[in-house]
Amino acid sequence: MASMEQISRHYADHVARLQATWEAALAAEQFDSAVVHAGSPIVSFLDDYHYAFRPNPHFLAWLPLTHHEESVLIFRPGHKPVLYFYQPDDFWHLPPADPEPWWADHFEIRVEREPGEWHQGVPVGREAYIGDAPELGAEDDVNPPGLLHRLHLARTRKTDYELDCLRQASVTGAHCHLAAEAAFREGRSEYEIHQAYLAAGQFDDAGLPYPSIVALNRHGAVLHYQQRDRARPARSDAFLIDAGASCHGYCSDITRTYTTKEGEFAALIGSMDTLQRGLCNDMKAGVDYREMHLRAHAEIAGVLADHGIITCDASDAVESGLSGVFYPHGLGHYLGLQTHDVGGLIADATGREIPRPDGHPFLRLTRTLESGNVLTVEPGLYFIDSLLERWRAGRRRDMIDWERVEALKPFGGIRIEDDVVVTDGEPENMTRNAFEDA
Ligand code: GLY
Ligand code: MN
Ligand code: MN
Repeated sequence: MASMEQISRHYADHVARLQATWEAALAAEQFDSAVVHAGSPIVSFLDDYHYAFRPNPHFLAWLPLTHHEESVLIFRPGHKPVLYFYQPDDFWHLPPADPEPWWADHFEIRVEREPGEWHQGVPVGREAYIGDAPELGAEDDVNPPGLLHRLHLARTRKTDYELDCLRQASVTGAHCHLAAEAAFREGRSEYEIHQAYLAAGQFDDAGLPYPSIVALNRHGAVLHYQQRDRARPARSDAFLIDAGASCHGYCSDITRTYTTKEGEFAALIGSMDTLQRGLCNDMKAGVDYREMHLRAHAEIAGVLADHGIITCDASDAVESGLSGVFYPHGLGHYLGLQTHDVGGLIADATGREIPRPDGHPFLRLTRTLESGNVLTVEPGLYFIDSLLERWRAGRRRDMIDWERVEALKPFGGIRIEDDVVVTDGEPENMTRNAFEDA
């Protein structure tokens, strides 16, 4: 595990880069300052309980403050950023602890006892409000699209501080994944495996970057499987787990698939693992991610043909759309403060979209890769009843070996997902590195 000293070593440079980025973006969009609201608690209907707090990622980009409702950052070019640090005198809840010097030294801190005191600190001029409370500012200047496009593009190139946080999120994630795998091999239920994952990371559900997918056997074919069976299964044949961890708001997003059975499904996992590693190794600057997604389709079709799951050759499977029956999602996405991080589809500061390839509506990243990008690589191969049945109803049903498919359905599906840094040289696979060190 990285120490606080290691994580904080590049923080000053990170803040300096944010200052330069925001200064340029505000100037280009003709704003004098920006007000960045961390967010307000969302209260349940007809009650006074709060949903788990998800801070504004633009606030988190500046500050490692993941539980700080109502705090506000005010940035004015040429000045030290001001943080209205919300620390209420509240006997119902535990207020945030005092600021820590490693981050606080880079801000002018004003402790706020009541929400909204920050209004007094808004400089004169034209200010942009960034946050999810639209009543905050003048109508035109709440989340201005041009400004957001610029900030989102900047967020696609991580600073050294961000890379350290992302590496740590992968280290924690890999540690928890190993605990989950062990629980699977002991025959435990989805619920018990989930608890083992959380316990290994010493967090609870609210500490996860996204709801974990903990899927035994056929449940692996449900792409965003959201239940956790309490009962232990009669047989623990296969296990797909998609679960991450966080460090100062930066996420990991990791999927592994295991089987306890020798045979075809184990061989398929092996083929998918080889294919996935090959894709990760080629995530280099200058590569069009759309091409990588299409390559994944061609290679997965090759795996389907090699394993006799389809009766046609790989290129026919891609051309006819059959590969999409087994692999219906995108190859991956940017990763950062959000699991599905921003900026994956925009060409430039105008926000113009880079189109997805025809027939691939779920791809979340269409850009040409640059050094400093962090993204996921998550090819999959699933036996999804509804998609298979649609294909069977068509005239090309013979392109599938249905007997093989029936034999593999009880194993659900395979996804292998790593988090990769694009560099000037070889890509850095943070997830594989973390598993190796764990
Ligand atoms: N865990 C969500 C995803 O892989 O995109
Ligand atoms: Mn992902
Ligand atoms: Mn995932």
